[in-house]
Amino acid sequence: MQPNSIQFILDNEIHTIDWSKVDFPVSTTVLQYLRSIPKHTGTKEGCAEGDCGACTVVLAELTTENKLIYKAVDSCLLFLPAMHGKQLITIENLATKTPTSTELHPVQQAIIESNASQCGYCTPGIAMSIFGLYKSNINIDNQIVIDSLDGNLCRCTGYGSIIDAAKSACKTIDVDHFTQNEPEIIEKLKSINQSKSQIILTSKEQVYFLPQSLEQSLKLKEEHPEAIVIHGATDIAVRQNKTSVYNPQILDISHVKEFKHFSNTIDSHIIGTGCSIEDLKSFIHQYFVEFDPILDHFASKQIRQSATIGGNICNASPIGDLIPMLIVLDASVKIENSLTSRMMKLEKFITGYRSIDLKYNELVTEIIIPKKQSDIFYFSEKVSTRRQLDISTLSIAAGFRVSNDKKIDDVKLIYGGLAATVKNAATVENFLVGKNFTIETMKEAAKLIQNDFKPISDARSTTEYRLQVAGNLLLKCYHSVISEMKK
Ligand SMILES: Cc1cc2nc3c(=O)[nH]c(=O)nc-3n(C[C@H](O)[C@H](O)[C@H](O)COP(=O)(O)OP(=O)(O)OC[C@H]3O[C@@H](n4cnc5c(N)ncnc54)[C@H](O)[C@@H]3O)c2cc1C
Ligand code: FES
Ligand code: FES
Repeated sequence: MQPNSIQFILDNEIHTIDWSKVDFPVSTTVLQYLRSIPKHTGTKEGCAEGDCGACTVVLAELTTENKLIYKAVDSCLLFLPAMHGKQLITIENLATKTPTSTELHPVQQAIIESNASQCGYCTPGIAMSIFGLYKSNINIDNQIVIDSLDGNLCRCTGYGSIIDAAKSACKTIDVDHFTQNEPEIIEKLKSINQSKSQIILTSKEQVYFLPQSLEQSLKLKEEHPEAIVIHGATDIAVRQNKTSVYNPQILDISHVKEFKHFSNTIDSHIIGTGCSIEDLKSFIHQYFVEFDPILDHFASKQIRQSATIGGNICNASPIGDLIPMLIVLDASVKIENSLTSRMMKLEKFITGYRSIDLKYNELVTEIIIPKKQSDIFYFSEKVSTRRQLDISTLSIAAGFRVSNDKKIDDVKLIYGGLAATVKNAATVENFLVGKNFTIETMKEAAKLIQNDFKPISDARSTTEYRLQVAGNLLLKCYHSVISEMKK
């Protein structure tokens, strides 16, 4: 491969972009690129910030066993270099064309037969989300279909017929032309991915580092401390799209396998910070099902498949959805530089509004969660204006240790959206410890929330609403924990 270039598969062929020969910035988004080349304008731009799904494409990636997995993602939130070593599938690739005829893909056929399109602007994105589901080869149900479409906005068709189309398409057995081509695509991807050398891309505006290993990443971080780190880029790409400001130096760690692992030791779960939110969702569901309400309503399927756990905690947003849950679970972060590593509790790692305890040469590599203890009961809830694809107005993650005689021995109540950082309700916690676990106790506790938080009023909600709901959540928490204790 030439220096200053990347390779990926587009239209079944190896596609090379060499920044010595083009004049656009390295961090051009995949959407911008597709719309600038001939015959690829089927991918639409609606919002350029991950909110509409009109730009959905599907990426096929090699697993460690050299199989292909397909993921629907928002192309407006992906920088081009992240395509290196993957297959980019666009709406133009679904149908099979000969010089004299076009055979529609089963997904497209189902959309037509279910009357699932009117103005059609959203339709390419919807077809690609359904195609991503079709290629996942799972047994679908209504909820799985809804989850797969939660990042696609349609203003005029109505979701009933779109859901019908998805169900009808995914009932058929997956023997499409993508399956038939897989051996050839796998060989091409293996050849692109052969080299484990780091890639450095430069254009007039930017230098973009694409390391292939943890060692390379930490060395680059040491040598280029001013480079902005990206993983899923779902936050950083929105910033670029909205401001048209291109970061002069980017360190993209999304190709590093060492960041993407789940494992269990005798007493802990260890999660690489590069694991996607969608993969985290499945993992957490196995061990801490009580946090489904948070993870089920995290962004959209397209974003969950790109966004990472590391990006969420390093953002340190007061409404970052993983943070309350991970603090209640007593999670620690592993932080590494090229010479050494250190561990710290997540609640100490977050030092203020969008601020973290991370030095210029460090990256966060792992999250460590202690295994579940049988006497602790958990609860979580995310409150947002819309049910699907919305950020939290406020959220709670709670953990109660309750004795056999129903006394509260210990409690952690962590709220998002009520202060400049995710924060515990210290007064309420102190009040609850030693009390009987009853609805009356929780009603009393709810009145104390205002001692712990002075939330702001903003476009999302008012101070009064936030405090009222924060208290109400304690009552919901009580009912949920009690029914869990009875099991
Ligand atoms: C439409 C939309 C909806 C969203 N909905 C939600 C939601 O419901 N809930 C929610 O919590 N968030 C939401 N987000 C925010 C975002 O998707 C998440 O915070 C996501 O987890 C960020 O992960 P990322 O890998 O994309 O981060 P990136 O954008 O790649 O990075 C984010 C920050 O983390 C730093 N970083 C990333 N990885 C590391 C690392 N390993 N070590 C050190 N620093 C690192 C980066 O430098 C950067 O500052 C939404 C975003 C969009 C665009
Ligand atoms: S253009 Fe709206 S999600 Fe990408
Ligand atoms: S068909 Fe018009 S927005 Fe969906």
